Amino acid sequence: MKGIVFNLLGDMVEEQFGLEAWDAILDKAGSDGIFVATETYSDEALLALVAAGSEISGIAVPDLVRAFGRYMIPRFRESYGIFFEGHQDLKAFLLTVDSVIHVEVRKLYPEAGLPEFSYQNESDDQMTMTYRSPRKLCDLAIGLIEGAAAHFEEKCTINHDVCMHKGADRCELHLGFNP
Ligand code: HEM
Repeated sequence: MKGIVFNLLGDMVEEQFGLEAWDAILDKAGSDGIFVATETYSDEALLALVAAGSEISGIAVPDLVRAFGRYMIPRFRESYGIFFEGHQDLKAFLLTVDSVIHVEVRKLYPEAGLPEFSYQNESDDQMTMTYRSPRKLCDLAIGLIEGAAAHFEEKCTINHDVCMHKGADRCELHLGFNP
């Protein structure tokens, strides 16, 4: 994971729980807390911080990862506003994640660890996003979708029965728009 992700996690913890909480998490995870945005750090290092955050806050790891996804969207908007422009709705935006947004992210950060999404566009108000990644961060994807829904001021239901954490080789995110 890129340093930018670690820095965003630190910002979220500081804003919501205070600087002492972030210091305690860094201590517990054995991290010095210095992350250069463009450098690559191990996925395990991020998971160690999330695990420490979960222990200290009492919030379960999946809930924390999901909250982090929701937090990321307004922050991404500050730095990558162009990706949010010109879309009719949430669905149109989500359709660009794999073929536009993450393609551009890859150009900026060639060794970024990015997921793979494929899409089944079932009807105007239903779509399935199939998520594949060795990092199994489906909860982050769900939080990002929820954050994007808030940005587009839409309601979105997410049904997630098929999951890599339950032994499947992919996660299926069945999305319902403005139900
Ligand atoms: C402007 C919007 C977005 C930007 C700029 C962006 C950028 C990024 C960046 C920089 C990373 C980290 C790569 C690394 O550290 O190596 C990442 C990872 C990820 N992104 Fe996006 N992203 C955006 C929107 C989304 C949305 C809407 C979704 C969900 C549908 C999504 C799903 C993910 C997931 C799940 C990961 C974690 C890596 C993994 O699962 O393998 N992203 N993205």
